[in-house]
Amino acid sequence: MKALIPAAGHGTRFLPVTRVIPKEMLPVGAKPAIQLIAEEALAAGAEEVVIVISPDKDIIRRYFEGDSGLAPHIRWACQTEQLGLGHAVLQGADILAGEKEPVLVLLGDALVSGRAPSADMVAISRQTDGASVVGLEEVPVEKVSRYGIVKGAPYGIAAVDHAFDGRVWKLDDMVEKPSPESAPSRMAIAGRYLLDPAIFRFLACQKPGHGGEIQLTDAIRNLMSQKNVYGYRYPGRRHDIGNPAGYRETLEAFAC
Ligand code: UTP
Repeated sequence: MKALIPAAGHGTRFLPVTRVIPKEMLPVGAKPAIQLIAEEALAAGAEEVVIVISPDKDIIRRYFEGDSGLAPHIRWACQTEQLGLGHAVLQGADILAGEKEPVLVLLGDALVSGRAPSADMVAISRQTDGASVVGLEEVPVEKVSRYGIVKGAPYGIAAVDHAFDGRVWKLDDMVEKPSPESAPSRMAIAGRYLLDPAIFRFLACQKPGHGGEIQLTDAIRNLMSQKNVYGYRYPGRRHDIGNPAGYRETLEAFAC
């Protein structure tokens, strides 16, 4: 299995520090956040992690090629124009589009404290014939307009591990940043995806969506017309290091 971490975004919610330090490089303990994310991918069984950076975030590459200890597992892709998350993932197509197994995508600014979701998502995919699985989190109705929101129903898998009981959904639709009135649920896509490699075909012809950006959610919605997609409401807590308040909360959670 292979993984991809998009880390080429502008980081405007954490200016001015992100002018010189990418948010993905902010320290959590003695390691930059993105190293913890890469380690989550490797622990879930990824042999290789493709990190997507922009030309002005080369400090991330220098870090991994230096002291991280992870250099043999990391490959690089570049996003020169910040056209959105879907576009960032598409930059990994040369390396990943020919994969047989689903590709794990972990957002470079999303850390999860507690039980790591990626390994569970791999286990759920194996029990659903290699289907795609997206990580989910329940959010208050006033926050649905910040996330991709899914429509679906609870799905019983014959789980060996009872940690999955009541946490898996079969999905039939998803919409990026809906208004509270139009949101199909309060289940938000939360920083982790395990995607059938066919996603790269859909991304390659994906038109800009919400905010004029090429949205990963729109491409997964199209993927759903051909392949099953499941959701996993994971038990860990997601932290967004992409803004000062979220970063402070991350440090508190990881200090414990
Ligand atoms: P965000 O949605 O937080 O966007 O990206 P952003 O542009 O980095 O941050 P703000 O909104 O300006 O503060 C989620 C993840 O996807 C990456 C980011 O680096 C982050 O890890 N991303 C986002 C890209 O790689 N390219 C993009 O065009 C957008």
